[in-house]
Amino acid sequence: MKILAIGDLVSQKAVEKLRAELPLLQESENIDFTIVNSENVADGKGLTKKIFNELNKLNIDVFTMGNHTWGKKEIFELVDNPKLLVPANYSKGCPGHGYIVFEKNNKKICTINLIGRTNINDVLSNNPFEKVDEILKNVKADIYIIDFHAEATAEKLAMGYYVDGRATGIFGTHTHIQTADNKVLPKGTGYITDLGMTGPKNSILGMDITASLKRFVTSLPEKYKVAEGLCELNGAIFEINDETNKVIKVYRIHL
Ligand code: FE2
Repeated sequence: MKILAIGDLVSQKAVEKLRAELPLLQESENIDFTIVNSENVADGKGLTKKIFNELNKLNIDVFTMGNHTWGKKEIFELVDNPKLLVPANYSKGCPGHGYIVFEKNNKKICTINLIGRTNINDVLSNNPFEKVDEILKNVKADIYIIDFHAEATAEKLAMGYYVDGRATGIFGTHTHIQTADNKVLPKGTGYITDLGMTGPKNSILGMDITASLKRFVTSLPEKYKVAEGLCELNGAIFEINDETNKVIKVYRIHL
């Protein structure tokens, strides 16, 4: 079993990049299950119906979100779709669902979406560590794979070691820069701190360089805008032993 996780799509251009690269990547790597983080795909913030419909034409099993989940109002018409996850540690009053179990190749695969709380608290969320305990204890599956959408590397690593031996794999999203720490943790969980983004290559985290630079150089507020130009695609593949359901290796994708 091979699970492909693709990092934060930034803008419509990322959809075009996926359309061009995903079928070939899935075929050449024999991918069984694909997860895509979609929280930045609509102009850097949120997800629209039009884009979700376009993405659904591709072979994607689950979409995850993050701190920009509510960035576009249309999300409220989408959150009941079983394939779309919002962070599971949002308050009970939030619509949507934070995990889903799908069966693929006779394996029950539970995908879980969580959001961190360190330097990313624009929406109040519950303790992700307590929430993941609850899900891993109560949801029956063969494979558990987690998107932990968080800012702090320490919080992501802490979650990795916390679920080590209980989750099959965990990957971080949100910081848009792929980390080179893909590994199998001591008790067998596949891990990478951040997948990196899928979006404009010459940019500051997907945003226009001039606009982003102005904030840093002048200390004045400046509206972000999505960068132009060619896109890169970043992600990771979790290769899983079909007998043990344990990760054999995690390797990075950069196209
Ligand atoms: Fe984010």
